[in-house]
Amino acid sequence: MMRCDILTLFPSMVKSVLETSMMSLAQAKGLLDVTVIDIRSFTHDRHRTADDRPYGGGAGMILKPEPILEAIDSICATHPNTRIVMTSPRGRKFDQAYAQKMSEDSHRLVFICGHYEGIDERVHMIMATEGRKVDEVSIGDYVLTGGELAALVMIDASVRLIPGVLGSTNSVKEESFSSTLLEYAQYTRPVELRAARVPDVLLSGHHGAIRKWKHRSSLASTYARRPDLLTGRALAHADQLILTDIQKEEDTEKSDSPRRLSS
Ligand code: ADE
Repeated sequence: MMRCDILTLFPSMVKSVLETSMMSLAQAKGLLDVTVIDIRSFTHDRHRTADDRPYGGGAGMILKPEPILEAIDSICATHPNTRIVMTSPRGRKFDQAYAQKMSEDSHRLVFICGHYEGIDERVHMIMATEGRKVDEVSIGDYVLTGGELAALVMIDASVRLIPGVLGSTNSVKEESFSSTLLEYAQYTRPVELRAARVPDVLLSGHHGAIRKWKHRSSLASTYARRPDLLTGRALAHADQLILTDIQKEEDTEKSDSPRRLSS
């Protein structure tokens, strides 16, 4: 069970995703519990002001610290076991290992979705001084207009790792990144499509051969698309041999992996 709060200026945007597909199913199954909190409900002025101009000048607006800190205080008053996740392009990079950790975390995860040009620096400082667990997390080296999509990406990637959310636990175990290899090529009906056939071995019913084929396909896909995942990784001797074979195939242009575009 993952328990989360999402602090946002745009609750309806977040809710619309949570009401859809796997996110909604996970909540219905009691494996995910998300509360969406409008940061503006912790403002006290007539205009519900959540942002202000930056000291020292500069572009854009900064999220005011008080509403965010009050929201955190109010959550922590009833749920002391919390971990604060500040979405920010300057944070540590979110990856599959982090998603796994989140999916197993017993803390209540409180996502703070930044907006405009950022959040007053003291929010992070004060939370750390108060001894709260705070992570700043980025979903990649690009800048979004707000942290909502980042929070949803993190929750989505984590929730599907909770046993029982997906139909089969095998689908998580076998897929990309769990073993740091990309996924093998997949096919469904029809067997033949515009002269392109599903590989015979997959139709053979020979489980040992199928398993071997899938592993080779994973290695070939990783070698073609993400060779960086193979460098610095100690490959088993058997995998070295398969890889050499794949490289030879590529040299003779028999490989079925996508051809790289020449620049
Ligand atoms: N907010 C804006 N850009 C972001 C990013 N790349 N990751 C997380 N939060 C963000």
